[in-house]
Amino acid sequence: MFKSFVTFSVIQLLLLSAGALIIYKHQPNTQLTKTPPPALTQWYKPQNKRQVWLHNMFKLRREMQAIEFYAQRQDSENINKWLTSFEQHYLKIGEMVPSWNNKIDLSLVTAIKNSNEHGSFDKIPAQLKQLTANCQSCHDDYRSVVATLYRAPNFTNITLNGDIKLTDHMNNLSRQINLIKIATTDGLPTVAQAAFTQLSHSMEQLGKICLNCHKNSPQAYPSMAMTQTLVKLEQTLQHEDQKQQGQQLGALAVQACAICHGTHRLSFDNRTLLSQESSWQKLLKH
Ligand code: HEC
Ligand code: HEC
Ligand code: HEC
Repeated sequence: MFKSFVTFSVIQLLLLSAGALIIYKHQPNTQLTKTPPPALTQWYKPQNKRQVWLHNMFKLRREMQAIEFYAQRQDSENINKWLTSFEQHYLKIGEMVPSWNNKIDLSLVTAIKNSNEHGSFDKIPAQLKQLTANCQSCHDDYRSVVATLYRAPNFTNITLNGDIKLTDHMNNLSRQINLIKIATTDGLPTVAQAAFTQLSHSMEQLGKICLNCHKNSPQAYPSMAMTQTLVKLEQTLQHEDQKQQGQQLGALAVQACAICHGTHRLSFDNRTLLSQESSWQKLLKH
């Protein structure tokens, strides 16, 4: 009996310390992010036609502003009207994502209701502040993760000409730019010219994917500025001025690659990172 207890305890201890060791070893380079409950997915595109969750949030903010506005005017009727719709949308948080029901605090709504009934309008600003703190506590944990996961443009399934993967096309673009640089550095003008022609063509191909998402306000790619730089770059390739070539190539890389990477690639990378299995699951698998 005692022996089995000891064995049991030893095993427990070993398991615990193994767990502690994994965490300890990973601690310096591990960041735990809370991921939102899966129930939220249905309130976003593509599962839903609209970004329902986000629009409910906008309503909450507007309704709070209206309550504040009418509290200043001591307009009980309008406070009541806006508070009623606020309560309805506040409750929707828990209706849409049941596991988040515990994040809302109806006593804060009741407090404002009471102030309004008793004509204590001067109490309402402080009560709205408390409500804001309640909103903030959920936002601190989830706002940016949710915006990234559900609203950052998704490039996963985008292909060119129906079958070329975006990643492969990106790598081609990069190789073409680098080949121009290598060839101009080493005095191989014909190679540089050929790489330039390929690059111009690849950029035009890339420009076709913008329409996948920018349907209402088409994005020109290559833009006017890029086309101008391409013309200048092509001219410099006909002479052997390495400094000029380098300048135009650098300008092109910023206009045609870096600016888009700063928005679309960055947010897509974050989205991909957050969509991966949780850090804990990963930690344990290591
Ligand atoms: C249970 C969690 C939770 C609670 C409680 C909550 N929110 Fe949010 N809120 C979110 C999430 C998640 C987002 C991010 C949505 C997105 O970007 O698509 C968000 C985003 C917002 C936004 C958009 C922010 C922006 O600048 O883009 C507003 C406005 C907002 N919430 C208002 C409120 C108000 C007002 C309250 C309190 C009455 C509140 N929220 C309570 C989770 C919550
Ligand atoms: C997968 C969808 C998607 C694709 C493909 C895409 N975009 Fe965007 N883009 C967006 C969204 C959505 C925004 C709005 C801001 C945000 O959420 O990042 C945006 C914003 C922008 C902006 C800044 C805001 C503006 O409208 O001025 C520029 C510039 C831009 N895109 C250029 C391009 C170009 C050029 C291409 C093609 C080479 C492209 N995008 C391809 C989804 C996409
Ligand atoms: C639509 C905006 C956009 C433009 C313009 C753009 N890129 Fe990209 N790029 C992306 C996105 C999004 C990714 C991430 C794609 C992925 O991981 O599948 C990426 C990834 C890359 C990668 C990494 C590919 C890999 O193996 O993970 C390289 C290299 C690259 N781009 C080069 C370029 C070069 C060079 C240019 C300019 C000639 C350029 N890109 C223009 C959006 C853009």
